[in-house]
Amino acid sequence: MSLRLGDVAPNFTASTTEGKIDFHQWLGNCWGVLFSHPADYTPVCTTELGAVAKIKAEFEKRNVRVIAVSVDPLDSHRGWTKDINETQVCTMNYPIIADENRQVASAYDMIHPNADDKATVRSVFVIGPDKKIKLMLTYPASTGRNFVEILRVIDSLQLTANHRVATPADWRQGQDCIVSPSVSDDEAQKLFPRGVLKIKPYLRFTPQPNE
Ligand code: BEZ
Repeated sequence: MSLRLGDVAPNFTASTTEGKIDFHQWLGNCWGVLFSHPADYTPVCTTELGAVAKIKAEFEKRNVRVIAVSVDPLDSHRGWTKDINETQVCTMNYPIIADENRQVASAYDMIHPNADDKATVRSVFVIGPDKKIKLMLTYPASTGRNFVEILRVIDSLQLTANHRVATPADWRQGQDCIVSPSVSDDEAQKLFPRGVLKIKPYLRFTPQPNE
């Protein structure tokens, strides 16, 4: 059965460019981003892996570990890493899983046969410190992902895990948040002392509570 939000992210052991890992142990108490790409030595994937290397510090700031996966073998990942570093002007600084036997791809349903029966699609899983899946995204091979958007979602996930708010469309760190519908007006006054703006009974804004 396919995975859903709130499910425990399947654990696995795998060879990676940074050695063998047990996925859950490797995550420890951190958040995680597991993302698949269709194949090594392909142009869009090359830009994506370089883009993540360049903003790795942003993931670290948020206590997030990132890891890539494709069904290519380790020697291919190692050779391709040199090309990524050269062409994207970066230093690869996170592991790539060699998933030749498709163990990870199958567990995470990353092969969509009607798109491509051999390669993984561009999946993204954000996993919380409780090892549960907080976000899933699927992009086709032809479209590179926006990893700044993944950081934005992580900001929202981490905020809403700790405060009774939700984040509106296109929200960015520091902007006003929506008071959760489960919070009564009376509770909202206590929980959000910086004020609540009530536009409709169901649409209430408050300044970001952890700023
Ligand atoms: C790419 O990464 O450029 C790519 C990979 C598979 C199919 C199409 C494009």
